[in-house]
Amino acid sequence: MKKLFVKTYGCQMNVYDSARMAEALEPSGYALAPSPDDADIILLNTCHIREKAAEKLFSDLGRLAPAKARKARSGGRMVIAVAGCVAQAEGGEILRRAKSVDVVVGPQSYHRLPALIAAAENGGRPVETEFPADSKFDRLPARSRAGVSAFLSIQEGCDKFCSFCVVPYTRGTESSRPVHAVLAEANDLVAHGARELTLLGQNVNAYHGAAPDGGSWGLGRLICALAENPDLLRLRYMTSHPADMDDALIAAHRDEPKLMPFLHLPVQSGSDHILRAMNRRHGADEYRRTIDTLRAARPDIALSSDFIVGFPGEGDDDFAATLDLVRTVGFAQAFSFKYSARPGTPAAMRDDQVPEPVKTERLAALQAVLSEQQGRFNAEFVGRAVDVLFEKRGRYPGQLAGRSPWLQPVHAAAPATLLGSVATVRVAAIEPNSLAGVLREVAA
Ligand code: 5AD
Ligand code: SF4
Repeated sequence: MKKLFVKTYGCQMNVYDSARMAEALEPSGYALAPSPDDADIILLNTCHIREKAAEKLFSDLGRLAPAKARKARSGGRMVIAVAGCVAQAEGGEILRRAKSVDVVVGPQSYHRLPALIAAAENGGRPVETEFPADSKFDRLPARSRAGVSAFLSIQEGCDKFCSFCVVPYTRGTESSRPVHAVLAEANDLVAHGARELTLLGQNVNAYHGAAPDGGSWGLGRLICALAENPDLLRLRYMTSHPADMDDALIAAHRDEPKLMPFLHLPVQSGSDHILRAMNRRHGADEYRRTIDTLRAARPDIALSSDFIVGFPGEGDDDFAATLDLVRTVGFAQAFSFKYSARPGTPAAMRDDQVPEPVKTERLAALQAVLSEQQGRFNAEFVGRAVDVLFEKRGRYPGQLAGRSPWLQPVHAAAPATLLGSVATVRVAAIEPNSLAGVLREVAA
């Protein structure tokens, strides 16, 4: 077998895409290698969401150039392929900027990867950044393996055009995979051992897949259909947009016990003025009302969010409104970022950019409140019994690791026979990155 090394930057969608690309290259004789040294193909699956993420690619390419030259000196060939959103955004420019790159492939063209690699092995430097009419997923091979917790992409692209975001440009307009394709891939994953599926999409709750009954299904209905598989124990989905939390999806949170009580619902800001400038299509109070409805449907639901501080024009009062929203909603976990101007997006053109030191100060203040909330959320679990889906072996012998329904990492001494099962543990202690549990009984 030839060696393939994959490095994934950015979001879960990229993690999923990387797995699909590795599977697509398997029939051409490539197997995953743990390190880039001596690899025959290096595949860098990139992220363009913030400037820092995009720049990582070029520093990594600089580090890889000597290994490529070494391999060439010993008569071999190392093909370096750049995939993902930087590939889509910069296209052939990457070949000019980094001489070591052989293939540039955008996120909609992964089914073409074996042919592009073959072209590079014959001395070419192909660039493929088309947006074909049909989904790449339905041209990739069927799933051949799965972890206990697996990702399943059901929707790609985004039509929302938030004024800070590159996704509509790098991933294209919104499209949903047909229901039958999603159900077939879910069945394959479960047959290969998956017990939890996380449905992925840049705007996953905008899902509207063509259904066998001739109509179109939303995410709520799709979740109920997937939950019918008796070997599937848990379902999650991400990332959602607040404006697309429809009644059927909220009802699924109320009625479908396999849908886990944890939701990542980015709000970005608590200021109506900034939300309007971001083109988010909802206000702060609408977000609060959506959360109230969700909590009425599923009282134990825990919330996570994304925040951007220092969006152009953000004043002290706008930032205070964000802190106020955080305090009134209460988050179990959150991601927060300094605004990063992205080329080609409307917000990058504004002349009221916020100075870097102000962004730094606001980010620290926001993160202090968020981490205090996360600490309090976890602390309440001490002494409680929680169901854990064991996904893998823990760090120490005799330990297994998994997740609670609220996505908290949990580890406990447990027999390996429990891998892939849900068991109840009593939470004994809160550790920096996980909960320490003591096994109580097998629940499923
Ligand atoms: N600057 C900072 N953060 C951004 N995000 C998206 N675009 C930008 C940007 N230009 C954040 C948003 C989004 C998350 C995936 O990344 O919070 O929800
Ligand atoms: Fe980007 Fe999400 Fe807004 Fe779409 S909804 S433009 S992916 S931030």
